[in-house]
Amino acid sequence: MSNQPFQKRAVQPAKSLRGEISVPGDKSISHRSIMLGSLAEGKTTVSGFLMGEDNLSTWKAFAAMGVEISQTGSDALEISGVGIDGLAEPGDVLDCGNSGTTMRLMTGLLSGQNFFSVLTGDQYLRKRPMKRVVAPLTSMGARISGRDGGEKAPLAIQGGGLKPIDYASPVSSAQVKSAILLAGLSVDGVTTVTEPHLSRDHSERMLASFGADVRPFDGGVSIVGRPRLVGQDVIVPGDISSAAFFLVAGLVTPGAELLIRNVGVNPTRSGVIDILKAMGGLIELQNVREQSGEPVADILVRHSQLRGIDIHGDMVPRAIDEFPVISVAAALAEGETVIRDAAELRVKETDRIDAMVSELSKLGAQVDGRPDGMIINGIEKLEGGQVTSHGDHRIAMSMAVAALSARAEVTIEDTGCTETSFPGFWDLIEKIKIEP
Ligand code: S3P
Repeated sequence: MSNQPFQKRAVQPAKSLRGEISVPGDKSISHRSIMLGSLAEGKTTVSGFLMGEDNLSTWKAFAAMGVEISQTGSDALEISGVGIDGLAEPGDVLDCGNSGTTMRLMTGLLSGQNFFSVLTGDQYLRKRPMKRVVAPLTSMGARISGRDGGEKAPLAIQGGGLKPIDYASPVSSAQVKSAILLAGLSVDGVTTVTEPHLSRDHSERMLASFGADVRPFDGGVSIVGRPRLVGQDVIVPGDISSAAFFLVAGLVTPGAELLIRNVGVNPTRSGVIDILKAMGGLIELQNVREQSGEPVADILVRHSQLRGIDIHGDMVPRAIDEFPVISVAAALAEGETVIRDAAELRVKETDRIDAMVSELSKLGAQVDGRPDGMIINGIEKLEGGQVTSHGDHRIAMSMAVAALSARAEVTIEDTGCTETSFPGFWDLIEKIKIEP
């Protein structure tokens, strides 16, 4: 957790927003760069790495298993890979902090390792569901126990001796898919995962670039076990989930114009751009290019009159982390926005449906929760007031975006959590503000 986990911040409305910015590296890709860099043979360099608390949890876990990882610049690392059989049994419990990605991906990876390990996390992570990875990994032969019948961390894993699986995941989750693919690395044979809608595919892309035989097909992906992974130079793009706060801020703040440079626009992640454009948002992708197997672009956003839309189906996993800030856009759009098929939001860092309904309502928004989403009727302006993050980084930053165009100051409680994914967020908000 951050040094000042409960820090309260007051955000004043801005007259407008203007500037050229970049956001820190992609959290998902940063996690995977450490994991695959550690399992590869030889040296991996990473640039654009996100030095957020979640990624530091992954870094510390691999350091505890004997991997040498050194910082070579403000956002650069060098990893001396140990090969897929080279990790050492950790001497202590591995603490994943607030990071669901660390815990779920590591549960898969450690299931394939011939040693004993225990994973724990902070008070929020210890409440989140783990059976979604524990159940398929158990069918592969892993021996995993945890609280609540293996549903909750701490999880104790006796790894090794796995067999391949063909698993039809009931949820569209990159964490579930990646956990099984990482377990599949240790197995002789082909491991397959299918999912209802395609979730983010960073694991597949990076595994392939490190030399694994990964075979995506319509509805799923297979991996051939026991590959030789070879160290790579990984360039991590800016995180679209972090850029999303500035996309919405730019759209809803009168007169705003922002250019966000170097953002990852992988189609399995760029649902937020499609959703905001469908709402009438003026968003332009410039200089689209490819870096380390991932599409990247600069994004120009201008103040726009937004209108409500229906969001459901395969659009949901493509924007799964952006719904808190999308609900801010909807609260200020003309007409009704309906979000469906998004029950997964209830098991994120906090219940993001309940959290956004309660916090946006405090600022006068018209938002109703549904079991699998929200119905939001837009209004012209939000009021000032006092809100809380519920300890969830994306709720804290969404409320900061809401504050920028509110009628009066918004005080946000419990803002230290933004360090998990976006160090420097609050300074960046101040940097782009044109004061009234
Ligand atoms: C992530 C997958 C998503 C996302 C999370 C990061 C990943 O979780 O919400 O922030 O890096 O694989 P789910 O797999 O639970 O949808």
